Amino acid sequence: VGNVADYLRDHIRTVPDWPQPGVMFRDITPLLHNPRTLRVLIDVFVHRYMEAKLDLVAGIDARGFILGAIVAYELNLGFVPIRKKGKLPYQTVTEEYELEYGSATVEIHADACKAGDRVLLIDDLIATGGTMMAGRRLLERLGAEVVEGAAIVDLPELGGSAQLLASGLPLFTVCRFD
Ligand code: PRP
Ligand code: HPA
Repeated sequence: VGNVADYLRDHIRTVPDWPQPGVMFRDITPLLHNPRTLRVLIDVFVHRYMEAKLDLVAGIDARGFILGAIVAYELNLGFVPIRKKGKLPYQTVTEEYELEYGSATVEIHADACKAGDRVLLIDDLIATGGTMMAGRRLLERLGAEVVEGAAIVDLPELGGSAQLLASGLPLFTVCRFD
């Protein structure tokens, strides 16, 4: 099909040894910079979810905000930020998750969704899956139903997507880097 996923993937830049030696960093900024790829990217998500009867889109700090907010707008839905610790001003619910070294914490406003809301959870990339798993737990603690986790990039070698799927979370990613 002259493949949309390959077209988009070709606009992701790989930066070797960033942020540390040995890491091949998949940089989505060229994909966002180009108006054609930005539109195609957004349209992929909008078409996938336009009939999904969603109530809300949640995006994960920070790159999940970019994609998530545009997709929410195009689907005529509201947007909820899941933020790194200490950024949200009102009452929050908190989840800690493991990083390669140490841990991190994400938060959501306690009134960000209500029981039974059908929520799409968006980030830019799945590596170990820890971030998306923590975001999902936050939404589920508020009683929401996470209809799907969605990202632009999957790094399957890190095992995150397999683990998320095994835990019962449906997943959608546009492209993968092996
Ligand atoms: C990156 C990426 C995802 C997460 C994926 O964010 O944007 O949110 O890591 O990794 P994981 O699957 O192993 O959890 P980062 O924590 O670098 O934050 P940023 O978006 O603020 O740069
Ligand atoms: N790119 C962007 N974000 C990331 C990556 C990457 O390769 N690995 C972990 N988070």
